[in-house]
Amino acid sequence: MSSNTNICLIGGSGFIGTELAAQLISAGKNIRVLSRDLRKMKSLRVVPTVDIHQVDPHDETALTQAFTNQDVVINLVGILNQSVGKGGTFAEAHTELARNIAAASKKAGVKQIIQISSLHADAESGPSEYLRTKGQACDILRDSGVPLTIFCPSVVFGNGDGLFTRFANLLHAMPFMPLACADARFAPVYVGDVARQIKQAIDDPEFIGKSINLCGPEVFTLREIVQYTADVLEIKRPIIGLPNGIAKIQAWVMEWVPGKPFSRDNYNSMQVDSVCEDSDSRQPTSVQKIVPTYLGKMNRQSRLQHYRELARRDERG
Ligand SMILES: NC(=O)c1ccc[n+]([C@@H]2O[C@H](COP(=O)([O-])OP(=O)(O)OC[C@H]3O[C@@H](n4cnc5c(N)ncnc54)[C@H](OP(=O)(O)O)[C@@H]3O)[C@@H](O)[C@H]2O)c1
Repeated sequence: MSSNTNICLIGGSGFIGTELAAQLISAGKNIRVLSRDLRKMKSLRVVPTVDIHQVDPHDETALTQAFTNQDVVINLVGILNQSVGKGGTFAEAHTELARNIAAASKKAGVKQIIQISSLHADAESGPSEYLRTKGQACDILRDSGVPLTIFCPSVVFGNGDGLFTRFANLLHAMPFMPLACADARFAPVYVGDVARQIKQAIDDPEFIGKSINLCGPEVFTLREIVQYTADVLEIKRPIIGLPNGIAKIQAWVMEWVPGKPFSRDNYNSMQVDSVCEDSDSRQPTSVQKIVPTYLGKMNRQSRLQHYRELARRDERG
């Protein structure tokens, strides 16, 4: 039985963090979740084994205090696009934050750091600023001397993801889909599988010192992902693959759209296929098993059923 009971999550309010928190609570761990905004943590506030702190992780002193009595620190902070404001650049959110985590972990006596990185993150050879700074973060944490486990997932799917759910919303809103990097390949991995692997790394010393790639069981091109999304939604939309020159212009234009749905850095990230070479990295849960359970609710039949129920409720007053 491991003695790693107190687990601190940074960026635990996000997509992967929410699933991980649920799995850790079920496993009987005491979790401390740090967030810059406590309003994001409403659902966890009521769980007695969860300790929620409003902390700016860019403040090393506050981070050291938050790490007190914590056995394991899990860093789930990651941004796909830079923003104006404190901590909003890739260098700040990935590299500088890793420096803070390393220093605070040493001071607080943390026994293990688990870093959630990305497939093909590399300080030198990463094709985008996102992947290079993610790689730098791993190097900094490795150099800290605190026992470290790194997970490098391909794109992650599950309810509320930024992949199928995002394309579902776009497909509903647009008469056709102009698609950059349509032939880029991905091996989408289920968020439940990612969280299960992280949970295992807390209790198994075999994971210390390892960097583990995580992929799903199948490989899809981006065009196949969008087509599959349209099929589940039961809608027909022409998917138009954009030539590279036009795709780069689209990326530049999208940087000016609120929420930055696509950027030149995202384009650069997609210049390397997000797939795993080794079979050990492949996690079991398929897209076909999970995606219809959440996207299905967005298809025509389900929406009609929803409107019928609303109408019946109105009739009843
Ligand atoms: N989702 C994927 O497909 C995928 C694929 C590969 C790798 N990853 C990596 O996995 C990790 C978790 O991903 P996710 O999808 O769960 O991300 P997410 O939903 O965007 O959540 C990340 C969390 O990081 C915190 N955060 C965001 N910007 C920050 C900043 N500038 N400074 C400090 N904290 C900040 C936020 O927490 P608060 O606002 O509460 O502080 C946010 O909830 C990330 O490192 C990501 O790069 C994700």
